[in-house]
Amino acid sequence: MIDEHPEGSNPTANPRLGDLIDARLSRRQLLMGAAATAMVTVIGAGPATAADDPSDDSPTAERGDDDRKGSRLRFTEVPTTDADTVVVPAGYRWQVLIPWGTGLFADSAPFREDASNSAADQRGQVGFNHDGMHFFPDGRNPSSGGVLVLNHEYTDANQIYTAAQGLAITPDAAGREKVAKALAGHGVTVVEIRRKRDGSWEHVVGARRNRRITATTPMAFSGPVAASHPMLASSITPSPLGTINNCSMGVTPWGTYLTGEENWNGYFGTADPAWTPSALERRYGVTAAGFAYNWHLAEPRFDLAVNRNELNHFGWVVEIDPQNPRSTPVKRSALGRIKHEGATCTEADGRVVVYTGDDENGDYLYKFVGDGSWARHRRAGRSPLDHGILYVGVFDGEGGGSWAPLVHGTGPLTAANGWADQADVLIRTRQAADAVGATRLHRPEWVAVDERTNDVYVSLTNGSGNPAPVNSNRDPNPYGHVLRIREQGGDNAAATFAWDIYLRAGDPGYDPTVPAGQPLFGSPDGVWADPDGLVWVQTDISNSSQNRADRGYDRIGNCAMVVSDPRTGELKRFLTGPRGCEITGITITPDRRTMFVNIQHPGESSTFWNNQFGAPSPANPSTVSSWPYGGRPRAATVVITREDGGRIGR
Ligand code: FEO
Ligand code: CA
Ligand code: CA
Repeated sequence: MIDEHPEGSNPTANPRLGDLIDARLSRRQLLMGAAATAMVTVIGAGPATAADDPSDDSPTAERGDDDRKGSRLRFTEVPTTDADTVVVPAGYRWQVLIPWGTGLFADSAPFREDASNSAADQRGQVGFNHDGMHFFPDGRNPSSGGVLVLNHEYTDANQIYTAAQGLAITPDAAGREKVAKALAGHGVTVVEIRRKRDGSWEHVVGARRNRRITATTPMAFSGPVAASHPMLASSITPSPLGTINNCSMGVTPWGTYLTGEENWNGYFGTADPAWTPSALERRYGVTAAGFAYNWHLAEPRFDLAVNRNELNHFGWVVEIDPQNPRSTPVKRSALGRIKHEGATCTEADGRVVVYTGDDENGDYLYKFVGDGSWARHRRAGRSPLDHGILYVGVFDGEGGGSWAPLVHGTGPLTAANGWADQADVLIRTRQAADAVGATRLHRPEWVAVDERTNDVYVSLTNGSGNPAPVNSNRDPNPYGHVLRIREQGGDNAAATFAWDIYLRAGDPGYDPTVPAGQPLFGSPDGVWADPDGLVWVQTDISNSSQNRADRGYDRIGNCAMVVSDPRTGELKRFLTGPRGCEITGITITPDRRTMFVNIQHPGESSTFWNNQFGAPSPANPSTVSSWPYGGRPRAATVVITREDGGRIGR
């Protein structure tokens, strides 16, 4: 994403994870001696860590069996690069699938290279800026066909409008058409795909389950916050419409897709000088200028002074049934209202557990725990996501922590303190979390659960202003790190946990606290634990920093995907992307011979490249990148296979 709000919206004095990591490192230095402290950041590789004690519950203690000896990462690492292409290891190949603008239906308009496709055309085409994604395999040949579901985080005005349309949003029909095209480029794409005889993949035009969900698709609400809640009352959209800024995702145990609404605040604005934000709105970073999209100039739906409650329709996790194209997506309010990066699901004793990061500098990590067997809820016709408790993470300075419940009437969340009911707690989730003393983190992004060990990995992409250990002792922390959480007893529903830093990103040439010899990478965002427990990490380096020496990012190059082995501490770079992009979204076929990865925002305005070739504009969108086809840059899914047909990464 574009880092619109680096300073954060959290005004509290709640402890910062960085302080806690600092404190923890100090403790470790005492325990282990200064020479051993470097190992703290290379989890699992440290012979001098608590891993030597098999009864240890700290994340440094490795669990699970491993019948293989030596490296499990059997591919040749790719180098860093600033080339405008995708690079995968020798013996692998990649293929572009469903780039932005690809037609989904029999009557879809073809993509027009000059961006002259209308809003109506866009509604029948794959959306813009592919992000979190999951492949739902079909029964008979599960590794040869199924449904691919992917998010579209935002649109880039330099790329979606023609030279004649330009950037300005005018208060007329032309402006409304431009906003409508952007709205249609957002949301989610559901598309059937299949493997061809030659091993390449194709999407199936006109397939039954193909669907576009956009920022104008009718939505239902469920859980404690009903669509009829007074805080959601909108004269313009009396029934909630659309989902927006869909970043990462989750897959429920019952086979539905969850999508997180992240930076929804930036879509709103107003020209009315009398409008000022409420405390609630300030806490979510709502401002009159927004992210300067200026949609409100053409569409009063997004004008804060006209339709303020529209804000409260967003910031939720949305559940989508990928198998039923006529189903209404549902905003599951019990999972809270934040800037949801994603909604990573796992199970604990039959209950569903959902981890979700609030991606803003200084914000929190949350966990929802279902209140009983999800299967029993489903059999009774209830959603398991409507019944449970939302918690927020409190990290101590000793490598431990607890989950604080956000339950009305519990702790400070009482009527006497101004909390009306559970719906109020959820609409004001951030403030409720402030009240219970949640720990400030450096931008919690994706969460992954290793289903073999139940360990939880959390990307903290980067941040500043929170100088302390859990934020890797760095202020600013331009490189980010991956946190590991081990829940008490390996139970993902537990009330307490241990944590440590799994990976510390960066360039040791600029930051000597980064382990020397570790493959260079920065700003971890996507994270996924594969069925063998290998942890894949995808990067999203801000385009104000990408490739720049004065930001310590020249040697790191373009965004990349690395893979790590928690058992050995081994880390290798698997893929690099084109200029200006981030790498995000990862899913694999059941046979693990086809991997899908998204290339988001290739060619986005990037300080380093703008200085050499000029900034992209509607008149020339290709100054930074012309990936994938040599012309207008287009976000796309890439399909990765091995030339010998083997398993990916092994
Ligand atoms: Fe949309 Fe937090 O990345
Ligand atoms: Ca990001
Ligand atoms: Ca992200």
